[in-house]
Amino acid sequence: MKLINIALDGPAAAGKSTIAKRVAAKLSMIYVDTGAMYRAITYKYLQNNKDEDFTNLINNTTLSLTYDAEKGQRIILDEQDVTDYLRENDVTNHVSYVASKEQVRSFAVEKQQELASKKGIVMDGRDIGTVVLPNADLKVYMIASVEERAERRQKDNELRGIESNIEQLKEEIETRDNYDMNREISPLKKAQDAVELDTTGKSIETVTNEILAMVEQIN
Ligand code: C5P
Repeated sequence: MKLINIALDGPAAAGKSTIAKRVAAKLSMIYVDTGAMYRAITYKYLQNNKDEDFTNLINNTTLSLTYDAEKGQRIILDEQDVTDYLRENDVTNHVSYVASKEQVRSFAVEKQQELASKKGIVMDGRDIGTVVLPNADLKVYMIASVEERAERRQKDNELRGIESNIEQLKEEIETRDNYDMNREISPLKKAQDAVELDTTGKSIETVTNEILAMVEQIN
């Protein structure tokens, strides 16, 4: 199989990371979770008491990705592994705001393009097919109903021992999507040449196999 890059975009909690991980494992590719990068910068923004000087924030930040055989992608922010803090509510509730800032986006996009330059990457996010990897070999835009996305998020939370209210989850997901779709720079949208994949009512295995079939078509 020739080396390819796959771009996987879509709204919040559409199952992108779960599917991207599976596809990457099946094809011996590397999975890159770009949302985690924006979350790490948001974590630092919160640690800095929401200082609005984003140029200063970025100029004083080092960010790298490492891979742990058991835990997968880890995010190293200023030499500290912050991965375990990135799903906290406070981070989730501020990440779309921080990710809308130009300094933050150019910093993250540059890193993402560097990571993908050697190919063999499955990258998930919001602007991968449109901005980060406009020449990706396969672009998939994953969607699912907001009800199902909230249910999936609730189950994920349950597994992590966190109780959550379904209506509140729905609201959080919709608020974040609205912000991501309407920001000025690189808003969330389907790339013209992306395949739209509605995962509502489908199992993880079905969706994974659908994407693997798309990969076979391009090889
Ligand atoms: O994918 P995840 O939910 O972790 O992404 C968190 C947030 O990071 C998104 O809601 C979005 O605001 C931002 N993001 C982005 N561009 C990406 C990936 C994530 O703006 N490529």
